[in-house]
Amino acid sequence: MGGHWGTRVDIQIFGESHGRGLGIVIAGLPAGESADMAEVARQMARRAPGNEISTARREPDQVEIISGIKDGVTTGSPICGMILNTDARTQDYRAMQTSPRPGHADFTAHARYEGHADMAGGGHFSGRITASLVLAGALTRQYLARRRIVIGGHVASIGGIADRRFETMGADVADFARLYAMDLPVLEEAKGTDMRQLILEAKEEGDSVGGVVEVMACHLPVGLGEPFFDSLESQISHLLFSIPAVKGVEFGDGFALTTMRGSKANDAYKNCDGSPCLATNHCGGALGGLSSGTPLIVRVAFKPTPSIALPQDSVTFADGSASRISVPGRHDPCVVPRAVVVVESVVAMALTDAWLCRYGEKG
Ligand SMILES: Cc1cc2nc3c(=O)[nH]c(=O)nc-3n(C[C@H](O)[C@H](O)[C@H](O)COP(=O)(O)O)c2cc1C
Repeated sequence: MGGHWGTRVDIQIFGESHGRGLGIVIAGLPAGESADMAEVARQMARRAPGNEISTARREPDQVEIISGIKDGVTTGSPICGMILNTDARTQDYRAMQTSPRPGHADFTAHARYEGHADMAGGGHFSGRITASLVLAGALTRQYLARRRIVIGGHVASIGGIADRRFETMGADVADFARLYAMDLPVLEEAKGTDMRQLILEAKEEGDSVGGVVEVMACHLPVGLGEPFFDSLESQISHLLFSIPAVKGVEFGDGFALTTMRGSKANDAYKNCDGSPCLATNHCGGALGGLSSGTPLIVRVAFKPTPSIALPQDSVTFADGSASRISVPGRHDPCVVPRAVVVVESVVAMALTDAWLCRYGEKG
């Protein structure tokens, strides 16, 4: 199984949901960068389950740094961080060894790894692996914050109930601290109440719901990224599609741009202290694969959680005979609230890589 990404920041993930643990190796972060582990713990806590709208599995998600950080400062050697599993219940996953769960990776992984993949709790395909991404994000967002770049996100919609969108020129940056503190982060609290209700209803029915996460990165300089294959949008999307359950990504006005005239879709220029800058942000922060100086805004679509209690059709691996599968165990009725910090984290990873590509270790 491959789990490798990055140009200057070089990242490798490992682990399984019900194995000993999981973790990440991050090479390429320059030496001498301070790494506040209390802040890392705060970010990890944002993803960890612990309320009625998430899985009942309880994991402290405590990070153990094996290498690369000493006395709260990066040493320049690869950073290895591990998170041990403490609350696995492998017996819940026996049925998936004989019949694949609809919507999960059991079927494709069984074919690819010829039945050898450890699929208990989703194995390496589990949403639990995103804890490693949050660890990488918690370190890289500290690196970016020292360069003024801040990243925040919210639940843009769940099952069709929509929060208002981020104001496109970045005014909502003032709300990031409030959003970080919420277990279902929304700009309009009444929408959050409705979303929570919908998640609880789906859970009660043994079903699940999906939704959209919107993330914004503010104070980017003009010109981060590369044209073509390594465009800023390509790099961010590459990481976003690595997050389990992600099915769609749009930047700025995204698909809505297809219904506009050029005269409305284009972002006109204005004078900012003697240099050109964008007066609007339909592009979502990137032009020609390079950051445009406006906030980078991305929306990410998550499908409903595949593991549901309602019975569904499947077949046995052994002989293809029909079976019905009702997934026991502890699952998120909606992955979206916990995914907000995951999306922020991969955006931080991509922007740090782009920053190091552009400005180097001394930048
Ligand atoms: C934060 C997070 C939590 C998740 N929790 C669950 C879960 O409890 N049960 C489940 O079946 N899928 C969960 N998923 C989604 C599956 O891991 C994912 O749908 C599956 O690996 C198949 O991959 P795909 O949907 O990208 O094709 C979660 C995803 C994320 C990002």
